[in-house]
Amino acid sequence: MHIVLLGPPGAGKGTQAKRLTEAYDFVHLSSGDLLRAECRAGTELGRRVAEFIDAGRLVPDQMIVEVVLARLKALKGASGFLLDGFPRTITQAESLDAALQGCGEKIDLVLKLAVPDEYLVDRIVGRRTCPTCQHVYHVRFHPPIREGICDRDGASLVQRTDDTREVVLERLVAYAAQTRPLVDYYRRRGILREVDGARDIEDVLSDLRRAVDDAR
Ligand code: AP5
Repeated sequence: MHIVLLGPPGAGKGTQAKRLTEAYDFVHLSSGDLLRAECRAGTELGRRVAEFIDAGRLVPDQMIVEVVLARLKALKGASGFLLDGFPRTITQAESLDAALQGCGEKIDLVLKLAVPDEYLVDRIVGRRTCPTCQHVYHVRFHPPIREGICDRDGASLVQRTDDTREVVLERLVAYAAQTRPLVDYYRRRGILREVDGARDIEDVLSDLRRAVDDAR
């Protein structure tokens, strides 16, 4: 099964993607994680994308399409994938469709997490991430047992450079202008399922699982 997880910054895409891939045999592919890994590794691509990420702007389509499609190609044979953060523009969605069509495949389900803007800023500014295992916490909504320390491996938690109030507002503008049109793009095909993401993490997960089970 090929699934796209859609939603604004801070909607809970990464949080839910990890839980869904534990529950099903999907591969989780996060475009944001891929780009941040390039930045950490100091590659040429990482240097080129860092300024876009830190400014809260989308990376140019051509760059991200190349990276994600190469990863998808390498996944050939996997029983399914869950895309988180990609596609984010109509151009990216069309490139993805064309690539899948070339192998006789398609996107089967698009899960849209609906969360009002007023929740998103608090969620993002309070997010803390483990730099080694990438587990995601929130200082209030999902705190670690020991403040600032990852429950899983004891590393000191960090804040993403684009998780400031100022940059979040830019990311929300980019979402509204460039990514929201994808909702209609997928709705027209009858594969969009919208889930209320402004609830407890486990309640949101139950609805997402129901949507996946219905589509299987
Ligand atoms: P990316 O990493 O994809 O960021 P994003 O889409 O802005 O999403 P986030 O990671 O901020 O949020 P999320 O929805 O995953 O929320 P999370 O689960 O962590 O992209 C970063 C940048 O890379 C982009 O700005 C762009 O520059 C570039 N980029 C990436 N993909 C691109 C593409 N396709 N094209 C062009 N550029 C691209 O949750 C957030 C917080 O809330 C956490 O602390 C979590 O614990 C908490 N939380 C989660 N769910 C709940 C809940 N139900 N209740 C309370 N708290 C919750």
